[in-house]
Amino acid sequence: MVYILGLGHIGLPLAIWIALSGKKVFGIDKDRTKIEEITTGRINITEYYRGTPLKTLATELIRKELLIVNHRIERPGNEPTVFIVTVGMGQLREDAPHFSALLTLLEELCPLLMDEDLIIFRGTLSPGTCADILLPEIRKHKKRIYVAYCPETVQETSIFSELSTNPLILSAADEESYRQAEKFLQSLPFSSIHRAQSMEAAETAKVVQNIYRDVNIAFANEISRISSELKVTTNELLRLANTHPRVNILQPGPGVGGYCLPFALGFLLKSLPEGMKGDLPLSTTARNINRGKPHLVLGTVRKALKQDGKTIDTARIAIFGLAMKDYCSDTRHSPAVEIMNMLIENGAQVKAYDPLVPPEFPYRTPSFKESIKDADLLLITGKQPGIEIYIWEMLFNKECPPSIVDTRNIFPPSERTKLYRV
Ligand SMILES: NC(=O)c1ccc[n+]([C@@H]2O[C@H](COP(=O)([O-])OP(=O)(O)OC[C@H]3O[C@@H](n4cnc5c(N)ncnc54)[C@H](O)[C@@H]3O)[C@@H](O)[C@H]2O)c1
Repeated sequence: MVYILGLGHIGLPLAIWIALSGKKVFGIDKDRTKIEEITTGRINITEYYRGTPLKTLATELIRKELLIVNHRIERPGNEPTVFIVTVGMGQLREDAPHFSALLTLLEELCPLLMDEDLIIFRGTLSPGTCADILLPEIRKHKKRIYVAYCPETVQETSIFSELSTNPLILSAADEESYRQAEKFLQSLPFSSIHRAQSMEAAETAKVVQNIYRDVNIAFANEISRISSELKVTTNELLRLANTHPRVNILQPGPGVGGYCLPFALGFLLKSLPEGMKGDLPLSTTARNINRGKPHLVLGTVRKALKQDGKTIDTARIAIFGLAMKDYCSDTRHSPAVEIMNMLIENGAQVKAYDPLVPPEFPYRTPSFKESIKDADLLLITGKQPGIEIYIWEMLFNKECPPSIVDTRNIFPPSERTKLYRV
């Protein structure tokens, strides 16, 4: 029997994946609305397991009682049990992570724990969180509890495949905790397990993985900015540069969003002594480049409108893509949403279309066609299913707005419209 505590973008797919492997899973989320959405097949998480959508799998596993979901922990029997915590650290701002969600969870969990239970934390934690914050809370209860930390590295939209292919980093509070956690994880179809000598090492490795990707994307954004001046498209430049086996430049875009990457540097800085916070100039510059990208996009929109004799405060702007990354329904900290809000603040009339983001999202139109009707400019902020077809139809039907600002390098050169890449 396994408990997954937190049924969000990570916890629910993980709970389903473990249930599919044949273990009975109790999925707990304090958010009653989420529990109701899961049980009624209305949960909006874009993940597929061998072609079957996550919500269908959840309904089926609940029907078979392999997955039992609840808004609070109920513990039948007194067998030692595994609790996997996917509740993350909260983030008030990029530089202000906090522990309240994890501490609230432990307040509820600790009184229910029994000797020889195993807790595995899987969220992204600032270095030192396990040893300094979580372990002391658990130890207060004077029970023999095994505690491990195994950071989650899957990415949204490919969680089910990455759960079985991504290597795990595993660390634990002591030798017996490590042994118990390793035994449990080996009972599931994970790939390899790499031991970290301390929980702090595992926490830091996870945060460093995220910062590495933030820096890589900042580099891609920088390269993409100059490529138009160098008579080479960004797509071609990256395609050619990435043919080298040791070069893997990620894709540029409208900015970096989501629940992880924008906060990684803040997690690391939080754990450094005051005098060393200036010692990460490369990562800090990269963060600033990515944080500034939405403003750069706004500047390009202004420039494009000006070329057409228009200004932002009277412009009608169509936006394609609201999610925080491609082929995804998650809009948390989405740069596309940030740009949309800036356009609205500047007086623009905005119609946004995204086939995966829920219809109740403000300024969202029910179809792409409706979003571009009478638009002065189309801003492409993400790749979502159907984008190539929408573009092709728009060009074929001669419905193109006078200007296109493309942050994802997908719009083809065309005589029908003016194209700006950013
Ligand atoms: N989303 C990603 O792509 C991704 C990838 C790798 C790692 N992570 C990390 O995994 C962790 C979870 O991320 P997520 O995207 O699933 O977040 P999420 O916000 O989607 O899910 C967290 C869930 O925990 C629930 N919760 C909060 N407090 C609770 C409590 N006391 N009891 C029960 N449930 C509670 C929330 O209601 C929410 O549903 C974070 O640390 C994140 O950094 C996320």
